[in-house]
Amino acid sequence: MSRFAYVNGQYLSHHNAAVHIEDRGYQFGDGVYEVVLLIDGKMADCEGHLKRLQRSLDELSLSSPVSDAALRQIMNRLIRLNRLKTGIIYIQITRGVARRDHKFPQHSHPSLVMTVKHLSVNTGQQLAGKSAITVPDQRWERRDIKTIQLLPNCLAKQAAAEQGAYEAIMVMADGTVSEGSSSNVWILTGSGQLITRQANEAILNGITRRSIQRIAAERQLEIIERPFTVEEMMAAKEVFVTSATSMVTALTQIDDKQIHEGEVGLIATALKADYIECIQVGE
Ligand SMILES: Cc1ncc(COP(=O)(O)O)c(C=O)c1O
Repeated sequence: MSRFAYVNGQYLSHHNAAVHIEDRGYQFGDGVYEVVLLIDGKMADCEGHLKRLQRSLDELSLSSPVSDAALRQIMNRLIRLNRLKTGIIYIQITRGVARRDHKFPQHSHPSLVMTVKHLSVNTGQQLAGKSAITVPDQRWERRDIKTIQLLPNCLAKQAAAEQGAYEAIMVMADGTVSEGSSSNVWILTGSGQLITRQANEAILNGITRRSIQRIAAERQLEIIERPFTVEEMMAAKEVFVTSATSMVTALTQIDDKQIHEGEVGLIATALKADYIECIQVGE
């Protein structure tokens, strides 16, 4: 089946879709993005993703070339053209094409690109535990902006892949965990507290993270937002990551340490099931 992409007003064959070599996204990483999950034709947290997209744009003094309503229309059309049922929608906005110069161009038109990817998502009850490694966090100090500059994240994920691990957990100079290379990290302590780092400039405030916070609160779990150390994480009862693509994914091995004796925990399993249910009923 042919794949379609959206590029600046046109629906093109994915194979031929391209932007100019002087697009500032390509030259400087001057752009932002979002990833929205689609399960059985239902978008997960679309509104949250579009709001965060606007926030990222504002933080970089970038403007969207289209309204939110138009963005949703393009998303829906691309879903239909690609017959996407379950997968992800990728949205990217850059500052557009301009003669190469570090400072912002006086006149440029932002570029909007959208693609979709078919994914098989495990919506069953049985979670597969994954492994992770810890790596130093080498990123800049505005990790709250979802920019397309992902080189440290790519290096971290590559290091994980080379060691056969699913995710790289990034550790700050003070020994606390910031987040995963493409996910937020959570721990469940022996006394039943669910801990995740507070959302400030140190991490990306995950949209899935926020939904899981709400779901955990509904389950009357005690949620504490604070930094935690690698030692605390290694001693935790459960560790899991959240993101649009992975939803809730349990980590059962980190570096050389087994978590929860290598078994997926009950809380991660329950939170994932609740999250999938919320998507399916359109909450
Ligand atoms: C660095 C980082 N942190 C956290 C997340 C999770 O964010 P979300 O739940 O909005 O997908 C992502 C997702 O790509 C990410 O790249």
